[in-house]
Amino acid sequence: MALILAFETSCDETGVGIYDSTSQRILANTLFSQVALHEAFGGVVPEIASRSQLEKIVPVLNQALDKAGVHLSDIEVIAVTNTPGLVGSLLVGICFAKSLAWAEQKKLIGINHLEGHIFSSFLRNDGTLNEVPFPHLALTASGGHTSLYLVRDFGQYELLLDTLDDAAGEAFDKVGKILGLGYPAGAKIERLAEQVNFADTMHYPRGKNAHKEMRFSFSGLKTAVLYSMVKAGAYELATGPIVENVTPDLQQHVASSLLVCIGDIFVNNVRLALQQYPEVQAVTFVGGVACNKYLKQRLQTVAHENAMAFFSPPPPFCTDNGGMIAFVAGYKAQQGKFSALTLDVPRN
Ligand code: KG4
Ligand code: ZN
Repeated sequence: MALILAFETSCDETGVGIYDSTSQRILANTLFSQVALHEAFGGVVPEIASRSQLEKIVPVLNQALDKAGVHLSDIEVIAVTNTPGLVGSLLVGICFAKSLAWAEQKKLIGINHLEGHIFSSFLRNDGTLNEVPFPHLALTASGGHTSLYLVRDFGQYELLLDTLDDAAGEAFDKVGKILGLGYPAGAKIERLAEQVNFADTMHYPRGKNAHKEMRFSFSGLKTAVLYSMVKAGAYELATGPIVENVTPDLQQHVASSLLVCIGDIFVNNVRLALQQYPEVQAVTFVGGVACNKYLKQRLQTVAHENAMAFFSPPPPFCTDNGGMIAFVAGYKAQQGKFSALTLDVPRN
């Protein structure tokens, strides 16, 4: 049994994962989510996030060891997300993992958070693994990133496309604020859209040359939503939402049109990438936004149209989690890619 213990503290979630690279199973994926702590502020407050990481890292670790039925002494490798993310939050995980590795005489591996998301498509609800063929296309969509990768092998991937401005999750969250839905808004927007059967009443812009060139850009979409709300008499640019005019009907139609538009943007870009890279064997959809069943369905349809398999992890492996970091550390350990105890957040 080669056990890997991993910490994910890059933002507002304290995640601990335990992966057994011999049986290829995730044995534990425990989490404390800080969503309730940041809700009142309409976004993540970095100081509150790092303080909470400090408070929760030991309890979440103990839960993971209990769940997996293992002791710290059984662990061979300690992994930790060391970039990208909020520095204060990252440092809690890094300092904790390094101290543990030093005190318990374990090997250490620093993991890139985005590599964790990219390879989360291998993870299944019961802890066993999907066989995702290489090369495949990975659409990574979260609150901070919206990118397309060509994934050639474990640890080998190429960035094909990155957002020019906001991430898709950020667009959901910013529109959520305009609609008075609170933070984060992705799941709430999905529920509202479902109530009007994913109608596209507003026809928000998809971008120029959308069918011709790969491009992710979501900040113009947020502005288009804002002006449609102004037009509907439900938003005042100087003061914000005019609450009595933000009717459930308007919320549903704006939310639904936004979701369909983001779905079209995803589908267009994946189609273009598939044309450009005919060697691709499968499509994956990962990151917090991949919790969205409508978007999952749209992307699955594109994959099937192209006679290829589609993979998207269950929600606990879509949002930030320690399981995906432990899994990536599993193949890094096999490749001998360990880190020194000087591991740190990269300085630019
Ligand atoms: O991956 P994640 O947990 O954190 C980051 O690394 O950013 O992603 C969080 C993002 C938020 O923007 C949230 O609104 C979005 O994922 N999200 C969703 C859904 N659930 C969460 N977006 C669309 N539909 C959902 N069901
Ligand atoms: Zn993430």
